[in-house]
Amino acid sequence: MTATQATGQTYEERLRTLSEASVHQHFDAFLDIDWDHPDFAVDPADERWVLPEADVLGRHAWYKSLPRDEQIRIGLYRQANVVKVGLQFEQVLIAGLMHYAFHLPNGSPEFRYSTHEATEECHHTQMFQEFVNRSGQDVPGATGAFKLLAPILPIAARVVPFGFFYGVLAGEEPIDHVQKSVLRGGEQMHPLLQRIMQIHVAEEARHIGFAHQYLEHKAPRLKRHERAVLSMAVPLVMRWLCNEILVPSKRAQRDMGIPADVAKEIWFDSPESQKFLRDLFGDVRMLAEETGMMNKASRRVWRAMGIDGRPSRYRSEPASAAA
Ligand SMILES: [Fe+2]
Ligand SMILES: [Fe+2]
Repeated sequence: MTATQATGQTYEERLRTLSEASVHQHFDAFLDIDWDHPDFAVDPADERWVLPEADVLGRHAWYKSLPRDEQIRIGLYRQANVVKVGLQFEQVLIAGLMHYAFHLPNGSPEFRYSTHEATEECHHTQMFQEFVNRSGQDVPGATGAFKLLAPILPIAARVVPFGFFYGVLAGEEPIDHVQKSVLRGGEQMHPLLQRIMQIHVAEEARHIGFAHQYLEHKAPRLKRHERAVLSMAVPLVMRWLCNEILVPSKRAQRDMGIPADVAKEIWFDSPESQKFLRDLFGDVRMLAEETGMMNKASRRVWRAMGIDGRPSRYRSEPASAAA
């Protein structure tokens, strides 16, 4: 069933609904977070920086065996670094959205929403950078490869917007999935980080919604050869960007003191990490089915990338139900 059949709304109407939601519910990095409130102060010895069970590193035996003060040190660094990677990804996204919107014709339904999204992402980068600054952690964020490619990636939004919006999902779906599971986990967390995540999850729902709407709408308009090439590229981009977001860079691993074999197990080798990775992409697999990106050859690439599995039956279906 297409989204139009499901909601009774046209593509244009759905983008307008998203835009109006951005007008009525949005956040400002400095108005909506009381940074100087005493409860929000960052104390580097605070027990609440210990990583939660929802974090793959936090639930690993190596981390759990460390002395408490080391768990706290690594926990604060790790959370600041994840935030830094997120904001660098958003900077690439904002630049891409500008390239994309620049060439849209007058009257295009995508113009207004894509600029609402860029506005919101600017606030997110401010909010995330302010957190990093207050954490006192001089974290590097993304890997050298991502930083090197960062000026080029946004151009994809102009050249292959369909591929670009899949790339957007490759970043937004894992961040959203992780933040939601941390918030749902109900463990005691620092109120500042909790506030930041609540704001982020609320706005990301719309961004993810837009990428899904866009891809569903454009898919039937792709030419045959475009569809063939994109179907092979999508799982590659998904896996690469997901790694960039989830796996700490070599320098970050060194700063945290994670032994190489432990890192390899946590992020690549353990059956648990492989399941975690597959679970992240249930919604994207559903979308890939709906947008004609799944065929015999591309399914093999999904499998080779370790992100194959059953598609979700509906958006945000819990992973346990989709496994
Ligand atoms: Fe964001
Ligand atoms: Fe976003």
